[in-house]
Amino acid sequence: MITIAIAKGRMQDDALALLARSGVRLSEDALLSRRLALVDESGDYRFIFVKPADVPVYVEHGIADCGVVGRDVLLESEPDLLLPLDLGIARCQIVVAAAEPDVMTKDFGMLRVATKYAHVASNHFGARGIPVEIISLSGSVELAPALGLADLIVDLVETGRTLRDNGLSVVEVITESTGRLVVNRASYQLKAPAITALINALNATINGAAHA
Ligand code: PRP
Repeated sequence: MITIAIAKGRMQDDALALLARSGVRLSEDALLSRRLALVDESGDYRFIFVKPADVPVYVEHGIADCGVVGRDVLLESEPDLLLPLDLGIARCQIVVAAAEPDVMTKDFGMLRVATKYAHVASNHFGARGIPVEIISLSGSVELAPALGLADLIVDLVETGRTLRDNGLSVVEVITESTGRLVVNRASYQLKAPAITALINALNATINGAAHA
């Protein structure tokens, strides 16, 4: 059996839909349940549903053979995993945003940056020689500038609605993110036929969709 860790939240529905179109399906009953570990209709795959940042942890430790998780999460934790496929789902951007678009050109001294991507943010500003204080949050980062906790945020933007509704706009785009298939290195060797079959099925679905 192959265990696949799925990032709960924004990625989950698109990931399950893509897997279903590739022949790996959960029953209606399973989809309606709140169980966090489920077996697919064929009995060949087990799904576990975990927080996005925990997907690489489960896969790196070999508890899950594969995972579906955003590139944003992988850039933040830099896990030692194989990344055979860009699934093209849950497309979004990691951006720097602020209430005042010219905040970076003003002399505020050390800028304070609120984010749940401390590593990505620190690399981004470090590479540009901009000294910043990183304030690590675990969500609802868009609140930080309005409440005076930070001058800037580094966060995900999909539709842009959360930024807009909280009076923020994009200062710069750091990078793009989409859902990725990640694979444990040992599983890739030990379960090669099954994992190769899964990669091929997903690849065929993605390319079929692209050419449809
Ligand atoms: C993400 C992100 C933004 C929002 C962006 O939050 O952190 O808050 O989605 O989406 P939008 O551009 O379509 O408005 P998520 O739902 O992952 O929850 P979070 O508060 O834990 O970050």
